[in-house]
Amino acid sequence: MQVLHTYQELQVFRKSLDSVGFVPTMGALHPGHASLITRSKQENPQTIVSIFVNPTQFGPNEDLSRYPRDLEADLKLCQSLGVDGVFVPTVAELYPFEHAITLNPASDLLGHEAEHRPTHFNGVLQVVLKLFNLVCPQKAYFGKKDAQQLLHVQRLVADFFLEIEIVPCEIVRDHDGLALSSRNVYLSASQRQEALKIPQALERMQIAYQQGMRDTASLIRIGLDTLQGLEVHYLSICNHNLEPLAQVKSNQTLILCAVQVGQVRLLDNLWV
Ligand code: PAF
Repeated sequence: MQVLHTYQELQVFRKSLDSVGFVPTMGALHPGHASLITRSKQENPQTIVSIFVNPTQFGPNEDLSRYPRDLEADLKLCQSLGVDGVFVPTVAELYPFEHAITLNPASDLLGHEAEHRPTHFNGVLQVVLKLFNLVCPQKAYFGKKDAQQLLHVQRLVADFFLEIEIVPCEIVRDHDGLALSSRNVYLSASQRQEALKIPQALERMQIAYQQGMRDTASLIRIGLDTLQGLEVHYLSICNHNLEPLAQVKSNQTLILCAVQVGQVRLLDNLWV
C-alpha cells in the first residue's frame, strides 16, 4: 500500500493504475468506512482512500480543531483491507491559493443541514471536486448516513458532467443501533444512551409506516415523541429531491433527522 502526501506523488501513482474505486474520508475510520472500502475492493481492480479533514466544510464554531484524528490506526485499517493507495494531503497541498474558487450548492438541495451549517456543502463540494480531479476514479463510494451530502455529490457529478459513478452505501450501525460516525467518540456513556432514541425513533416510524400509516405529520409525531428530551434540529420526511411530502411514497421517501446530544450533532436517516 502506498501512502501519498503530495499531488505529484498521487499523479504518478494514478498513472500506474487502471480503473479505480475511490473512498473519500476525513479519517478516524470506523466499520462504516471499512464497508465502503470493502465494497470498492469488490467492484474495482484498485482502491484509493483519501484521509483529509477538510477545513472549508467546518463552520467557525464547529469542531475542526478537535475533530478525531488517528492516522496510524487509519493506515493500519486501510492496509488490512487491501487498499492500494492512501492520499493524505496537507491543507496547503489541497488549497494552494489564498483566494480559492468556491462552489455554491444547488439551492433546491439546501435546507435541513444547510440551515444549521450554512457553508458546509460549499466546502464539501469544493473538496470533493478537487479530490475527484486528482484521483480520477471510475466509481466513488459515499455512505447513505450523510444523505444530503450524497444528494449534493450526485448533483455535482451530473451538473459538471463528471464521468464518475457515485455508489451509495448502506448505513452501518453499532450493536445498539446507533449509526456509526467518527463523532460518536465524543459521547459520554449517558449521552450515548440518550442518543439511542434516534434509531429508536426511526424504527418506530418505520414500523408505523409498515403498518399502513402514510400521513407524514402523524409519522413525525411518533418520531418526536420518541426523541423527547433531546434537542431536535430537524426531523423531516421528504422525497429524494428534499421536497417535503404530505404522504409517504415507497421508493421515493427519505426520513431525515439531526439531533444535538451534548456537544455532538448526530445525523441519521431512513430511506423508505
Ligand atoms: O463524508 C465525509 O467524510 C466528508 O464530508 C468528505 C466526503 C470526505 C469530504 O470531506
